[in-house]
Amino acid sequence: MERGLIERLYIRLETTVNRESPLNPFYHLGAIAILLLWVILFTGIYLFIFYEISVSGAYMSVEYITKEQWWLGGIMRSLHRYASDGLVIVTVLHAMRVFILKRYRFWRAFVWVTGVAILWLIWISGIFGYLMVWDMKAQFIAFLSARLLESLPVLGIPVGLNFATEKMLSNQFFYIVLFIHFSSIVVIALLVGLHLDRISRPEITPPRPILWGVLAVLLAVAIARPAVSDAMADLTRLPVDITLDVFYMFVYPLFGYLSEGMIWALLAGLTAVFVAIPWLGGGRRGEPAKVVETLCVGCELCMKDCPYTAIQMREKEGVLTARVVDKKCASCGICMGACEYSAIELGTLREDAIYERIENICDQLKKENGVPRVMVFACRWGVDVESVVARKKGVGLVSFECIGMVQPRMVDIVLHKGLDGLVLAGCRKGDCAYRRGNTYLEQRLNGERAPIVKIEPSLRERLKTLWFSVEEKEEFGEELTGFLRGLEKEVEKGEPV
Ligand code: HEM
Ligand code: SF4
Ligand code: SF4
Repeated sequence: MERGLIERLYIRLETTVNRESPLNPFYHLGAIAILLLWVILFTGIYLFIFYEISVSGAYMSVEYITKEQWWLGGIMRSLHRYASDGLVIVTVLHAMRVFILKRYRFWRAFVWVTGVAILWLIWISGIFGYLMVWDMKAQFIAFLSARLLESLPVLGIPVGLNFATEKMLSNQFFYIVLFIHFSSIVVIALLVGLHLDRISRPEITPPRPILWGVLAVLLAVAIARPAVSDAMADLTRLPVDITLDVFYMFVYPLFGYLSEGMIWALLAGLTAVFVAIPWLGGGRRGEPAKVVETLCVGCELCMKDCPYTAIQMREKEGVLTARVVDKKCASCGICMGACEYSAIELGTLREDAIYERIENICDQLKKENGVPRVMVFACRWGVDVESVVARKKGVGLVSFECIGMVQPRMVDIVLHKGLDGLVLAGCRKGDCAYRRGNTYLEQRLNGERAPIVKIEPSLRERLKTLWFSVEEKEEFGEELTGFLRGLEKEVEKGEPV
């Protein structure tokens, strides 16, 4: 699999993280973003109880929460603030990761576009949150946002008049701000639902250590650097001594250099480029999976394993059959690995052809003498296995689009037809190119997922799973060599391994 320089450098960075910790937070950014949304919602409800929706009360009520009730309200406010900042960081990292790893095209385009919409809404919601405090910072962003809105010919409302004098500012303004702030959170939640609609069983909660780690970091920052307001807004004065939140207010410094029209053009241009990303660049999409209806018995296993909700079951004259929705299909072949009835073809790739190749390689390897004869089934997204096995005598390779494509019968053939060992190699655990292929195969091998790969205990040690990223060729080579050495001893003993 060809990968660009940036992609390789990025994977190397993640590999370093993997060496330090068994849990890589980069693999769980989407789930961490959902956790942060929960923190924002929970702390937001608490803050709302004390918030006063009025010109005179808004600032004072936030001050009360922060200072008089610092032991709970103040912490809640800080958690709300830092979880919101964290949300921007984590969401941008999540988007950057899927971009660098090119996981945004074809069947993922819908997920990507809904992600861009979520980013916009997070930003809008944050700005309206800052307005609610009604300090100098809020006054500053209110003025500039009003200028931005007024420059839109379609709107035609002199929004800035609200802040022309103290008298013109009404409680109604704070009702509108609160409504937009709160309803944008509701829309974000709906969009996250849409974002995950084409992903089967998405990870919505990070692993426990990461979950507690994120909460602990938020709490530590909230205690060490409590969120505070600037001075109260005063429409008779120009805002001074304000501190801008770089995560939400990055656009306001641009007013010093660009006109409102240019800022709109910049925002619209960036959004258009982001939305268009899945359709830019070349590359061909693989052919979607096809169900041979006459062979399908309606067991639903393929539907349960498809990582992108591309398989639907439909009933015709009382008989249940699987059907693939082409536009959602990733051509990963995981459904092929799940089907025990040879009812799935992957475009022009037929199951018979894979079996023929396995049998042929087995026959060739059986002719080797004095070395362990080992088959490697490898996914094409992990280590460049071909270059590793090319130097090893007695080792054969069959490549798969995803290791989740391997069927129990394929394992059976290798272990029962005279070879000494079988290696199953795929992407790092938690980072399958098709989300779950390696996990499903491991579960099948452990008897935890149908179709189960039945292996007699005596044959277990002849099987090795190697989950490594593309940047871990050396580690892969070492593990493979170690496995071959272990088998060598058996071969020397003359044992029928
Ligand atoms: C609050 C914001 C977001 C949340 C909560 C979120 C959450 C998630 C989750 C839970 C997944 C599935 C992970 C899995 O189980 O494999 C996911 C996948 C994905 N997200 Fe997001 N996401 C957010 C924002 C974004 C943004 C801003 C983008 C890009 C612009 C984006 C692009 C994607 C893509 C392309 C995938 C599919 C990755 C794959 O198929 O491997 N997301 N997101
Ligand atoms: S090839 Fe992959 S994405 Fe397509 S239907 Fe099968 S499991 Fe689903
Ligand atoms: S796994 Fe095979 S037999 Fe079962 S529903 Fe899917 S296509 Fe049909």
